[in-house]
Amino acid sequence: MIQEVVRFKDVSSTQDTAKRFIHRHHEMAIVAQHQRRGRGRHGRAWSSPTGGLYLSLILFPGHRMMLIPFLASLSVVRLLEHYALSGIAIHWPNDVLLHDKKVCGVICEQHKDSVICGIGLNVNSIDLPPNLGNATSMIRETGRTYDLDEVLTYYIRIFNPLYQELLERGLKVAEALNYITGIGEVVEVVTRNATFTATICDVNSDWSLLVRDESGVSRTLYCQEVRRLVW
Ligand code: BTN
Repeated sequence: MIQEVVRFKDVSSTQDTAKRFIHRHHEMAIVAQHQRRGRGRHGRAWSSPTGGLYLSLILFPGHRMMLIPFLASLSVVRLLEHYALSGIAIHWPNDVLLHDKKVCGVICEQHKDSVICGIGLNVNSIDLPPNLGNATSMIRETGRTYDLDEVLTYYIRIFNPLYQELLERGLKVAEALNYITGIGEVVEVVTRNATFTATICDVNSDWSLLVRDESGVSRTLYCQEVRRLVW
């Protein structure tokens, strides 16, 4: 359970700041108002102006590590529902979309027995980078300004019981299937060795993705990049 939150005004990346706290060996949250070098998955940058939620959770999920991205994005979905937002979807593995635009990204980095799970949620961000045509924020979708402290409190309040459930029994992926977007969609899959086009078939119970490539071969993806061809 996350019971401690450490706040910073300005950091390079909350992912790196979090590393300094791993040795305490209990679950914690590191949050910053602004990041100078926020990072996304697959080596991309994460634009982090003031107004967004930049959060890194230090977790010790044991053998359930694989399900942390799912847990983090399901918690964001529940948070957005709490604020009565509509048009919420998850694009595997962990992008949360609002009306088909990305509002939140999740990155999980493993350090020995811990996972640092970074969550970037565009809350009050009006000016999103022009190159991110497919991004949005809560304020953009609703015209409302949100209290960032309250958003953080609710997020942790939603996350904690789900995390507990994950540790004790394992979370049921079926919970999130209603939100999964893109089944049947043709996407580009980028692996370490190759890039290929495939059709998304299903999400498995361990949160891996089942796709069929162009020659009809089924493949299971774990952490490869899945790029949408059309936004
Ligand atoms: C992605 O969609 O590529 C993942 C983006 C994750 C961004 C968050 S913001 C808080 C934490 N600190 C970082 O540097 N990155 C993650």
